[in-house]
Amino acid sequence: MKTSSLWGTPPSRFYRFLKRLGEEAEGNPPTLAVVGCADGKFVLPAARRGFKVWAIDIDEIALFGGMKQDTSGEVHMPGLRSRVKDEDLEELVEIVHGDFMESAPGRTFDGVFTSGALQYSNNMEHSLTQMVDAVGDLVRPGGLFYLDYMLPYEEKYKGRPNCPEAPWWAEYLKQRPQWDVQYNRVMEPTLDRAHVEYPVDHYHQWGHALAVRAPSA
Ligand SMILES: C[S@@+](CC[C@H](N)C(=O)[O-])C[C@H]1O[C@@H](n2cnc3c(N)ncnc32)[C@H](O)[C@@H]1O
Repeated sequence: MKTSSLWGTPPSRFYRFLKRLGEEAEGNPPTLAVVGCADGKFVLPAARRGFKVWAIDIDEIALFGGMKQDTSGEVHMPGLRSRVKDEDLEELVEIVHGDFMESAPGRTFDGVFTSGALQYSNNMEHSLTQMVDAVGDLVRPGGLFYLDYMLPYEEKYKGRPNCPEAPWWAEYLKQRPQWDVQYNRVMEPTLDRAHVEYPVDHYHQWGHALAVRAPSA
């Protein structure tokens, strides 16, 4: 049975990332860490393709199900665990409830993906540099790091230290010799369809970068 995320569907660039990871794995099941996985918008498409996924989120309801409150009222979220079970993918997905700054998996991955999680207000006790360093350290030498980062387009993100303007990201990546940056693109503000926690169509501005970790770093 195919399930769906209350966060909507991944953009096509995510599928291109999976395709490249799959090609580089040369027949072995690729390993992927999804940092800030919520109810699995990015986890299920990878597991359906046979990837072994380590998925972490701090939000218990997104992982294990429950009621979410937003301005449209109460919404039932089945959660990642139930989606994984319904799709018979339990052997491929390890779900971790925790803070990615505190719950290290003790191993590295062929690919690491994160989308918007670092910009959450609960992460302001850490500098963005510390967070990107920590998430990037999960990538094995020669592996791929995909970062979807929120830019301060909406009022609530402006001035937030973990949501800087685009040049911060270019500078960060330039200063880290372990990353061979394949691209780092700033998108025009785009209309995101209503999703759980944000139940009206809204504009965000995103940047996204793909980097390969140096084989010896
Ligand atoms: C923008 S949401 C995106 C969720 C998912 N990437 C998607 O688009 O469906 C970011 C997710 O990161 C999680 N998150 C934020 N800070 C976190 C932290 N310190 N540790 C683990 N998860 C975190 C949030 O709970 C949220 O589910």
